[in-house]
Amino acid sequence: MYAGRRRRPRLLMPVASRVSDASDSARGRLGLTREDRGLLSVAHDPVLTFRGVSRVYHVGGTTVHALSDADFEVYAGELVAVVGPSGAGKSTLLALAGGLDSPTGGEVWVDGAPLHALGTAELAELRRDRVGYVFQDFNLVAALTAAENVALPRELAGVSRRAARGEALAELSAVGLADQADRYPDQLSGGQQQRVAIARALVGGRRLLLADEPTGALDTSTGDAVIDLLRARISRGAAAVVVTHERGVAERADRVIEIRDGSIIAATGDPASVGHAEERTP
Ligand SMILES: Nc1ncnc2c1ncn2[C@@H]1O[C@H](COP(=O)(O)OP(=O)(O)OP(=O)(O)O)[C@@H](O)[C@H]1O
Ligand SMILES: [Mg+2]
Repeated sequence: MYAGRRRRPRLLMPVASRVSDASDSARGRLGLTREDRGLLSVAHDPVLTFRGVSRVYHVGGTTVHALSDADFEVYAGELVAVVGPSGAGKSTLLALAGGLDSPTGGEVWVDGAPLHALGTAELAELRRDRVGYVFQDFNLVAALTAAENVALPRELAGVSRRAARGEALAELSAVGLADQADRYPDQLSGGQQQRVAIARALVGGRRLLLADEPTGALDTSTGDAVIDLLRARISRGAAAVVVTHERGVAERADRVIEIRDGSIIAATGDPASVGHAEERTP
């Protein structure tokens, strides 16, 4: 069954602001409302689960094991970095997580939904509404302006054109591109195109953010700002998996998954310490 059809818990408002809004009588002994306690338990539901996931390609007469028997979970509140050399299987892992590709073995679950059990329309809906994807090559629509690119997934989700544009402009200004909103991708630099792609991934409060080298074409301070933006979404109940070659990004992650020749060879960090990475690595 498509668990995604359940009523979703309210995750968009920070816990702290709702606690301060609640009347004293509505709060429990810990100063939390029943709803906040519910939200804390939601934080322990995995947003992404890989169970024995493999992806094998057959090219000519050879077999490529792009990913072999990957097992891991990513929880709400976590930023997980995926590192490894070129050809290790990082983009393959991300494409499988986002339902852009299907595994040849094992199962991928996103936000409680088993991707293998979804029909084409359900999978498209889940990808549109729950998954924000920053592609290695950006994948912007050349015939649409920056604002139109960012608004597109919201319009496809049924949001009015005017409201979708408002959301798009807010995301573009969050990535520092407010005054480039009406430019086309070929009128933007590589780094600016990448920021449009990031704004498009963040729009609409998606639960799972997947990014392939999101800071690659950016200078260090803009790259840091991008990680800050991801962190802000994560603190409101999202989870992020970020492929990166950069030490600085990996150091700011809650966990690092290291992959080589399609196999996870190391995973650092403890899922139980979700949300405390910034305290551990100031
Ligand atoms: N469509 C495909 N057909 C055949 N082989 C593929 C395909 N896509 C990826 N591969 C192979 O799978 C392996 C993993 O590729 P992948 O793109 O996941 O690597 P990566 O870790 O993202 O590398 P990079 O850092 O260069 O982006 C590589 O050996 C690659 O050649
Ligand atoms: Mg790649």
